[in-house]
Amino acid sequence: MELTELDHVAIAVRDLEAAVSWYRDALGAQVAHRELVEADGVEEALLAVAESYVQLLTPTRAGSPVARFLERRGEGLHHVGYRVDDCASALAAAIAAGARPIDDTPRPGSRGSTVAFLHPSTAFGTLIELVQP
Ligand code: CO
Repeated sequence: MELTELDHVAIAVRDLEAAVSWYRDALGAQVAHRELVEADGVEEALLAVAESYVQLLTPTRAGSPVARFLERRGEGLHHVGYRVDDCASALAAAIAAGARPIDDTPRPGSRGSTVAFLHPSTAFGTLIELVQP
């Protein structure tokens, strides 16, 4: 397997509109895409950075994974998404190498992508997402 691009860095925020405005005003970052991902209980705004994105994430309901993350850890870096050609084979290779999966099989992500998450406990403390566009 090969990582083809740093797809996105995801940052959990409490107020998506405030975060979008701050990234625009302070860093000149523009929103390329917005999406409500009901299954995950999140709304996201993707800010374009060259071929990658900063993904601002906010929960849409109490008790969702991002809501619980904000309660425990506060705002900040949530996960890193790596682009791959084949999510299923990348996931299998990571599991074979000892990574603990959160998703046993790839599932739909935002932008029509296919994704799978790897647990931070076997990834030096960072939640990792494998993203097949
Ligand atoms: Co992500």
